[in-house]
Amino acid sequence: MDGNGRWAQQRKLPRTAGHQAGVKAVHKVVEFCGHKGIKVLTLFAFSRENWNRPESEIGSLMELFLKALKREADQLAENHVRLRFIGDRSGLSSELQKHMRLAEEKTAVNEETDLIIAVNYGGRWDIVQAARSLGKRIETGELRAEQIDAGLLGAELSLANLPEPDLFIRSGGDQRISNFMLWQLAYTELYFTEVLWPDFGPEEMEKAVAVYAGRQRRFGRVPEQTGARADDEC
Ligand code: IPE
Ligand code: MG
Repeated sequence: MDGNGRWAQQRKLPRTAGHQAGVKAVHKVVEFCGHKGIKVLTLFAFSRENWNRPESEIGSLMELFLKALKREADQLAENHVRLRFIGDRSGLSSELQKHMRLAEEKTAVNEETDLIIAVNYGGRWDIVQAARSLGKRIETGELRAEQIDAGLLGAELSLANLPEPDLFIRSGGDQRISNFMLWQLAYTELYFTEVLWPDFGPEEMEKAVAVYAGRQRRFGRVPEQTGARADDEC
């Protein structure tokens, strides 16, 4: 979700106004996924690198998360959305951590849509924490180094129990991954749009899905073989 700041700047508003408008866009996109039967949506809300922003902007972002969480949790629960967070929570305020936990508990029984919000997340952090878990299992003698393969490492990652993403969307015009789900994106279709995040809504989602539908996914195979999924790193 990129472009909140520029959206605000274009309107001569403070960056916070862009982030507020960004929350509204989240609302619309989540609703769209519910209606269209998109089962899993992962949103990159705050990266580990975002801590480098001015303290005042970080403060207002955190405040906005907390407010949105308190406001939306019940409605998400009603709309059959299961909310989960990925990222290092230890860097967040205890109040925010508490409400994240409460919202997860409140929505845990839902199975229609999985909404995952990445906060204080980084793709490299995720791989590092997975490597540490495996390292610990080696230390205890449960595992030997030679047993480690993509499956074992993947199982220690944040979204291990979910399918790998089909489509990656970045708004705001930049064409890079910026340390999002590095491992999981290996075979994901990438889609970049100039549209700034607060302007991103159902029509933009429709466009992205249409582009995705026109792509041929080969997973390392030749066109005649498509439909089959390659097992691993090929
Ligand atoms: C993305 O919008 C939102 C967050 C990182 C929370 P930006 O704040 O990066 O907006 P631009 O890139 O400055 O326009
Ligand atoms: Mg940005």
